[in-house]
Amino acid sequence: MTGLSRRRMLLGGAVAGAGVAALTACTGRDEETAAQAAQAARLRIGSDTLPFHGTHQTGVTAQPQAHATLVALTLRESADRDAIRRMLQVLTDDAARLTQGRGALADTEPELAQTPARLTVTFGFGPEVVRRVAGDSAVPSWLRPLPAFSIDRLEDRWNDGDLLLQIAADDAVTIAHATRMLLKSARSTAVPRWRQSGFRRSRGSEKPGTTMRNLFGNVDGTVNLHPQDDDFAQSVWVQDGWLAGGTSLVVRRIRMDLDGWDRLDVPGRDQAIGRRQSDGSPLTGESEFDEPDFEAIGPHGFTVIPDFSHIARARGDDTRPTMLRRSYNYDDDLAVDGAAGGAADPDGEISDSGLLFLAYQADVDEGFVPVQRRLAELDLLNQWTTPVGSAVFAIPPGCWEGGFVGETLF
Ligand code: HEM
Repeated sequence: MTGLSRRRMLLGGAVAGAGVAALTACTGRDEETAAQAAQAARLRIGSDTLPFHGTHQTGVTAQPQAHATLVALTLRESADRDAIRRMLQVLTDDAARLTQGRGALADTEPELAQTPARLTVTFGFGPEVVRRVAGDSAVPSWLRPLPAFSIDRLEDRWNDGDLLLQIAADDAVTIAHATRMLLKSARSTAVPRWRQSGFRRSRGSEKPGTTMRNLFGNVDGTVNLHPQDDDFAQSVWVQDGWLAGGTSLVVRRIRMDLDGWDRLDVPGRDQAIGRRQSDGSPLTGESEFDEPDFEAIGPHGFTVIPDFSHIARARGDDTRPTMLRRSYNYDDDLAVDGAAGGAADPDGEISDSGLLFLAYQADVDEGFVPVQRRLAELDLLNQWTTPVGSAVFAIPPGCWEGGFVGETLF
C-alpha cells in the first residue's frame, strides 16, 4: 500500500467514523428532543386549567377528567341564610383559585394547588339548602329523593345530601388537596355526609375523545348528548327561574356484580347490552357509532338486538337522549360487613365495584325518571347491577368574577 492510499484509507475511516459519531449525536439529539416533548406534554397535563367563571358551571360539560370525588354535606342546624351565603362565597373563592392553580386563601399546602390538572369544582344543592335560603316555593318539584324503584337496594350511607361538591381533575393529589381545602372552608356550616370517588382512564392513556369503558368492559357513553347538539341546551340547562343556566344531577351508586358477569360468555354479555364488548358496536352494526337497528330480525325470528337488552330498554320510544350521562367507575375495598359475607369469605366477592352513574338534565322527572322506570321494569342488565345509593341535586348556574355560585337563589 502506498503512503497516499494508506493516508486515504485512514482519512476515509476517520471521515466515516466522524459520520457515525455525527449520526449518533443526531439520533441522540432526536431522542432527547422527543423525551423533552413528552416531558413537556406531561407537564402540560398537570398545568392545564379550565375556566372557573362562566354562564354554566364548567364541570358539567368539560371533557370528563380522569378522577372525580363527590362529597355530599349536611347543613348544621345553626346554618341560616346568611351562614349559607358566607359559606358559598368562601367556597366559590376557593374554587376559583384552586381551579386556576393557585392556593386557596387559607391554604396550608399551596404547593399542591400548583398542578391544577383541569380541576373543576361543581356545586349542587339538595332541597334543604334551597329551602333555608329561599323558602319552599323555590324548591323545584323534581328536587327530592327519586321515586322508589323495584331494583333499588339503597343504603342510607350513600343517599341524599344538602350540599354537593363534585371535584374532578386529571390528578388524584390535586383532588385530595382541593377536597380538603373546600371541606375546611365549609366545616363551620356543613359537615360531610358521604364521599364517593371514581375514575376513568388516565389522561394520555387513550386518544382524546375515546368513549370510556366501565368495569364490565363495555364501551359506555356512546349514545349521549353533546354540547354542540341543537337540543343540548333545551335538554340540559334549566331555562328560567333562579336555576336558569343551571341543571340537575342524579347520582346513582350502582354496584356491578363482576363475579356474576365473569360467568357470562361474550355472546351473553353482548345480548344483555345490545352492543359488542369488543368495540361497542351495536349487534346490528359494525362500528361504535353505527345507528342500532332495533327492528332487524335474526335467523331464529327474534330481534337481533334483544327487546330486553339494556340499550333497547333505555332507548324506549325516545328519539333523542334525554340526559347527559357522565359516569365514573368505582372499585373500593369490601367493607367488613359488605355484600356476600365480606372479605373474610373465601368464596365471597373480592371487591365492591360499580358505576357512579351521573346524569344531568333540565328536569329529573322528564330526563332521568322515565328511563329508570323502564329499566327497572325490564332490563337484562339488572341481573348484574344493583343501585345502592341515590341522590338528586340542583346544579346552579355558573358565576362571574365578583359573584358566587348560588347567588341567584338569594
Ligand atoms: C351499572 C349500570 C349501568 C351500566 C353498566 C350501563 C351500561 C351501558 C352501556 C354499555 C350502554 C351502551 C353504550 C352507550 O350508548 O352508552 C348504555 C347505554 C345507555 N344507558 Fe346505561 N348502564 C347502566 C345504567 C344506566 C342507568 C341507571 C340509566 C338511566 C336510568 C342508563 C341509561 C342509558 C341510556 C339512555 C343509554 C343509551 C341508550 C341508547 O342507545 O339510546 N344506564 N349503558
